[in-house]
Amino acid sequence: MDKDFFFDKKKNDPISRVDGRAKVTGKATYAAEHKVPNLAYGFLVGSTIAKGRIKSLDTKSAERAPGVLGVITHVNAPKIPGYQTGKDPAKPPTAGQPLRIFYDNQIFYYDQPIALVIADTYDRALFAAKLVKAQYEKEVHQTELETNLSKARIPTGPRKEDYKRGDADGYKNAAVKIEQEYYHPVEVHNPMELGSIIARWDGPDKLTVYTKTQGVESTRNSIKDAFKLSPENITVNAEHIGGAFGMGLRTWPYEIAAIMGAQKIGKPLKLALHREQMFTNVGYRPETIQKIGMGATADGKLVGIFHEATANTSAYEEFTEATVNITQFMYACPNVATRYRLVPLNFVTPIWMRGPGEATGAFALESAMDELAYALKLDPIEFRLRNHADIDPEHNRPWSSKHLKECYEMGAEKIGWKDRQLEPRSLKDGDWLVGYGMGTGSFGAMRWVATVKAKLQPDGKLLLQCSVNDMGPGTATMMTAVASEAMGLAPDKITIQMGSTKLPPGPMQGGSNVTSTVGSAVHDVCAELKMQIAALASKEGSPFRTRKVKEVKAEDLVFSDGSVALKKNESTKISFQDLFRRNNLQGLEITKESKGQEQPYSMYSFSMHFVKLRVHPATGRVKIDHVVSCADAGTIISPKTAASQMIGGAVGVIGMALMEDLVVDHRFGRPINNNLADYHVPVNADIPNIDVLFVNKKDPFTNPMGSKGLGEIALVGVAPAVANAVFNATGKRIRTLPITPDKLM
Ligand code: MOS
Repeated sequence: MDKDFFFDKKKNDPISRVDGRAKVTGKATYAAEHKVPNLAYGFLVGSTIAKGRIKSLDTKSAERAPGVLGVITHVNAPKIPGYQTGKDPAKPPTAGQPLRIFYDNQIFYYDQPIALVIADTYDRALFAAKLVKAQYEKEVHQTELETNLSKARIPTGPRKEDYKRGDADGYKNAAVKIEQEYYHPVEVHNPMELGSIIARWDGPDKLTVYTKTQGVESTRNSIKDAFKLSPENITVNAEHIGGAFGMGLRTWPYEIAAIMGAQKIGKPLKLALHREQMFTNVGYRPETIQKIGMGATADGKLVGIFHEATANTSAYEEFTEATVNITQFMYACPNVATRYRLVPLNFVTPIWMRGPGEATGAFALESAMDELAYALKLDPIEFRLRNHADIDPEHNRPWSSKHLKECYEMGAEKIGWKDRQLEPRSLKDGDWLVGYGMGTGSFGAMRWVATVKAKLQPDGKLLLQCSVNDMGPGTATMMTAVASEAMGLAPDKITIQMGSTKLPPGPMQGGSNVTSTVGSAVHDVCAELKMQIAALASKEGSPFRTRKVKEVKAEDLVFSDGSVALKKNESTKISFQDLFRRNNLQGLEITKESKGQEQPYSMYSFSMHFVKLRVHPATGRVKIDHVVSCADAGTIISPKTAASQMIGGAVGVIGMALMEDLVVDHRFGRPINNNLADYHVPVNADIPNIDVLFVNKKDPFTNPMGSKGLGEIALVGVAPAVANAVFNATGKRIRTLPITPDKLM
């Protein structure tokens, strides 16, 4: 590990997003924009029932419509080899049992694809899709969590174990206690870029796709499993992604349909979902009902917490997430029990949505902490400090690093917490009621495996290659920052190539892992480059060599402006170019795989969010005035993109707290607000001044840079901060998200 890593923020200006210009000028190419000759266009027809069977399908008029090249249904679909051996979707759902598109006549959810219409233009495919007629044998569907709670069951796959330490009922005997229920509706990711794919067969067993995915390797894996191709014969490209928030963390049936369609008509096929299909076919944050029981001693020491979450999954597959896990480690508390249950409903399978289960769970936990703080007549920060977990109470081992107390301090100062009143409804600004709230966030600081290839070219420029991609956080900028620091190269001398399985394998972009995973690989490959440069600088004839010094080590050298100098004597400098010339080399090329090692520490990022807002008592309108998000995420590698990441997270959760809610008409099992006019997300006018603060202290154990993830902790804890501020302003405790005006009148 380099001692003098990471860069001196005073010396260096933070790097601006290296692909920012490409993104705002249209030069960055997204999945559906790739120029592929001889392209056909597909459009999916969805079922109009939420459960049952297709009795008959009439595709004749669609097939005869102008420009139509084919209509694929379960009747004529090519046999997908991976589907023949899969588990039977008619059996109870289990994990990893994807919907087998066009496999048989079963319908599991409203708008499930029943046909793919392919034509020579998009408009003709869309027109012909309207001509497909289906008749169904309807069965009774279930789309409501609350009325199906009796069907709640333990997952069969991940998270099937209940958690307990101490006495599960411990909280019940506490001097002060609360028992409450919290509700989280379905939320839909709705990134700007629609789910889209171009699939092209380059031979009977050779395939190239451009698709919207957060991980080209994992997409290649899913395609390999479905079509039984050898991985070298599948190329998946996804350099740029127009947002995803988690929806790109798996391969969806529409992608399989497009590959099937391209095979059937013998032409490359483009399939882009309609916005309405983004609400029904590519996952969502599941509907979740949570129960919390929490008790403390009269002087504010937690005695026990019970946390149960019941969430929906689909009728054909199990999806689970870490909704209750945050309760297991967040506070020092002797008696903790958590339970997680699933209810199958007739929807597409849910998928992680930014902050995923942790954000849902933190809404319940951090709301409950606030409720108990009021019951104890304690400042909620003080209450948290009294129960601060100095070590991880779940695994009973130290944290790799934890600076949550600094977050409390920095954030409280910035939001003006001293002006907060303990008594709700006691601060006013004209007619408006003013309130302050806070919430804590945390997420595992993970590091996976990545391989990065570095090519230091004869002109002294550095090329870095990795298959990882970027849905917005600024992966290329982070990689540039790490390499720039390590090699002493200006950012404009560094080029990043990413987002294709043709490049060395990187992780998927999810779970806040990429900076830690890929940043470490960049760090390691640069360290190797420096060692090789030192070896070159040790060769005979090198000006660094003296009678006494026969070997120069990388740590004896200063790397700056594309050259090396001895630390002891910076006046003798050699550029990389000169070094290559002297040694008759065409640059240096190194490929390095990098992964973390097991550590005897619990590794988490932490965050603290403060909200100041106003509520109008007559209209129930909530106006957020100020958000302060403070993160303990180790070393901050790329300060500008990191701050944007935090701001984006806060904006997302303002939607979660105040607006987002997929409304389903349960008579038909169908979402009503399946468009961006009716499904409300925050717009500029809803977003206040958001201040982002970083503790910016290196974690000694997570990775060589000492960074921890940011993507999820930007969200986890913001929604309860809003709800807690609403209570502080109005005295009304809203436990059902979103906090719409009707709940405050
Ligand atoms: Mo994130 S929910 O890991 O894309």
